[in-house]
Amino acid sequence: MGKLLIVNGSPRAPRSNSKRYAALLREYLNSGADEYNVTEKRHREICETLGRYDGLVLAFPLYADGLPVTLMRFLKELETYEAEKKPVVHVLVNCGFLEPEQNDTAVEMIRFFCKSNGFLFGSALRIGSGEAILDTPFVPTVKRKLKKFAKAVDEGGNKLLKARMPLTKKMFVGASAKFWEAYGAKNHITKEEMQTMKIEG
Ligand SMILES: Cc1cc2nc3c(=O)[nH]c(=O)nc-3n(C[C@H](O)[C@H](O)[C@H](O)COP(=O)(O)O)c2cc1C
Repeated sequence: MGKLLIVNGSPRAPRSNSKRYAALLREYLNSGADEYNVTEKRHREICETLGRYDGLVLAFPLYADGLPVTLMRFLKELETYEAEKKPVVHVLVNCGFLEPEQNDTAVEMIRFFCKSNGFLFGSALRIGSGEAILDTPFVPTVKRKLKKFAKAVDEGGNKLLKARMPLTKKMFVGASAKFWEAYGAKNHITKEEMQTMKIEG
């Protein structure tokens, strides 16, 4: 059993970017790490094992400038967890937009959760362009930061880190539009159809 528990808070946990970031983090950690996907919905059972861990890494996507409800449900359970020894909580958040600072509110939400519930807040890595960066030549940029984050987590330290594609906003928006238009075309959906609020039908 590892000293750390990585909780994947993505609603699409088994196929998520958070899972890919967590896998890289595990490569760079010296400490052993166990992993739990919130989609398994075993929150109570998992919370009861927390006393065994030194650190808890919350790996999740930014949803509407905040936390996905799947992670909130886990945190709700965690709020009721009472133990003498509580793990240090770290954040590994990724978002679709270019700027890592988009994740700042989500980081503050976790910090507030920790303060309210007697957990120590450790380190955070905020990843901008997180949906795309792993499949581009810029992957070393994010890997470098994941290594720094792994070191901070291993040491139970207090670092606030960020990573993003080294592109201008204009270039990023252009490349994203091209990607999504091609993706739509592959699924027989036009740009105009994607720009409507209609999801189905
Ligand atoms: C419902 C929903 C809301 C989102 N809200 C934001 C947002 O507010 N800002 C942002 O930059 N990205 C947003 N995204 C993009 C995700 O953060 C991004 O796709 C991320 O890589 C998903 O990670 P995951 O695969 O681990 O779930 C949103 C995605 C979805 C599906």
